[in-house]
Amino acid sequence: MIDKVLVATTNKGKLKEFKQLLSKYGIQVLSLEDMPEKFEVEEDKETFLENAIKKAREYAQFYKIPVIAEDAGLEVKALNGYPGVYSARFYDIEFGGKQPLEENKDKANIKKLLRLMEGVEDREARFVSVVVFYNPEDFGLWTEGYCYGKITDKPIGDKGFGYDPIFVPEGYLVTMAQLTPEEKNKISHRGKAVRKLVEKLQKLL
Ligand code: IMP
Repeated sequence: MIDKVLVATTNKGKLKEFKQLLSKYGIQVLSLEDMPEKFEVEEDKETFLENAIKKAREYAQFYKIPVIAEDAGLEVKALNGYPGVYSARFYDIEFGGKQPLEENKDKANIKKLLRLMEGVEDREARFVSVVVFYNPEDFGLWTEGYCYGKITDKPIGDKGFGYDPIFVPEGYLVTMAQLTPEEKNKISHRGKAVRKLVEKLQKLL
């Protein structure tokens, strides 16, 4: 198995979750901030998988260490799957009209999504996580995880990150932002994808 991996994300919420998820298996997580030289990869693809593969491969080849990269997002049924791959910068895209950036990106994204969902009855949505492992010798594998639920009509809770305050997971009466990190990891798209990835790695390496 591997003992050390670079988790290639600049999102602090994600990084924290990856550290919690991977520490259970004794895998040490390095972050982009631990790297001696700065290197950026643009997420310009149209699917989660293509973006995640691009990030994992380019970071692994640049830093010459095994990398885990993820592309994740929220897909809302009534919005034809938007924000999807645009989840991180939803406030700033033309679809549905741009939203002013008042406090921070997460808040602007949520405001825009709730505006577009005003009066919409079908609140079904899912979080998607595609996780790619890549090592510099040019070997890679990927897994995916989903978490189904519904969009609220206002933000509730202050844990987690991103769209967590407006997402109630299936079978719950509270939002993802009201769950403890352990509870979220058990049911989240990311938790599911990471557990599948480690199982695959344990079989192959
Ligand atoms: P990425 O860094 O391109 O994968 O962007 C992911 C974006 O999707 C984040 O900035 C969040 O807005 C959203 N997102 C992904 N995973 C989660 C989650 O677990 N909770 C809430 N929002 C999420």
